Amino acid sequence: THIDWDIDMAEKGGHPDFMIKEILEQPRVVRDTLVGRLTGTGELDIDELGLTYEELDLIDRVYVIACGTSYHAGLIANNLIEAWARIPCEVEAASEFRYRNPIITPTTLVVAVSQSGETADTLAAIRDARIKGAKVFGITNVVGSPVARESDGVIYTKANKEIAVASTKSFIGQVVSLTLLALLLAQVKGKMNTRQVKLLFHELGDTAEQIQWIFDTQQEAIHEAALACKDAHSALFVGRGMGAAISYEGALKLKEISYLHAEAYAAGEMKHGPIALIDPGFPVIAVTTKSPVYDKTVSNLKECEARGAKIIAVATEGDEDIKQIADHVIYIPPVRDAFSPITATVPLQLLAREVALMRGCDVDQPRNLAKSVTVE
Ligand code: G6P
Repeated sequence: THIDWDIDMAEKGGHPDFMIKEILEQPRVVRDTLVGRLTGTGELDIDELGLTYEELDLIDRVYVIACGTSYHAGLIANNLIEAWARIPCEVEAASEFRYRNPIITPTTLVVAVSQSGETADTLAAIRDARIKGAKVFGITNVVGSPVARESDGVIYTKANKEIAVASTKSFIGQVVSLTLLALLLAQVKGKMNTRQVKLLFHELGDTAEQIQWIFDTQQEAIHEAALACKDAHSALFVGRGMGAAISYEGALKLKEISYLHAEAYAAGEMKHGPIALIDPGFPVIAVTTKSPVYDKTVSNLKECEARGAKIIAVATEGDEDIKQIADHVIYIPPVRDAFSPITATVPLQLLAREVALMRGCDVDQPRNLAKSVTVE
């Protein structure tokens, strides 16, 4: 057993679990996913693009299809593709997409996001989409996986092998890759020039250091926030815009590894139902990073505060006002709204892990879940 322990610790790089090892790798994942992707002249270089620029320019509809955490990466892509490339984009769970009759033409791009590259529903959905004539683009972590083989083009996420069942570093790799795809579509469609692409590309790369800053400075704040929700029966995650997408991933992380019921809502929807749940001490985890909808989110939070909610805010460094309504604040460095999911998701991963450990859960192997789901 002594030898087993040594092997186990070595595989975890000296960390107590794979989840923390993989969370801490995320700055490297950002860097590796971006390396070599921008030419000196400001063109994006995606080596396995598989589609010509002419074909890309003709794309007039995008579906992002995925499952689980990969679906949440899709929610972020949806925002970026519409904002930057101005192409209508929908994101849908692969298990739903495959059983309806979506509008697919030869100018439809289906983007399949899958860490493992072998999720049954995602694969079935892309096979079906190809039969109907769509172009298919895969975002996957596994070279040569079925999703890679069966797509016209691929971006590999460079997360390396992920062992913890709940995905962390793969999600960050997916978001970075999808951001590259959104930039590429914007460039090909003439919505962004090379100067703009270059600027955004470099800012995207800066998120690596911003994640490291969170590791270096926010551990204590995250620990305090975890103590504040560990005994709750339920928690609500809220945000607007990008903050809503981040909230969905935060809630999924918490429920899957700590078995604490968590739900995410677009903050503006609170008044249509979820606010009925709030009673004194109810934890509300809010993504309130600086964005065009910051004030709106804060006013939604005030309604929760007035009903006694315990508010944990993920906010932008320097935002002191948020302390007036939040019981706990976890900061991220100032970042463009488009890139906030990359940084703001990280404290929520750490929060979920801390809560799970406090509740005595196995963070690497949650009950009833599998790393890769190859059956329907
Ligand atoms: C399983 C895993 C999740 C993952 C989902 C999709 O449910 O437990 O962590 O997000 O599958 O997997 P994929 O490999 O397609 O990204």
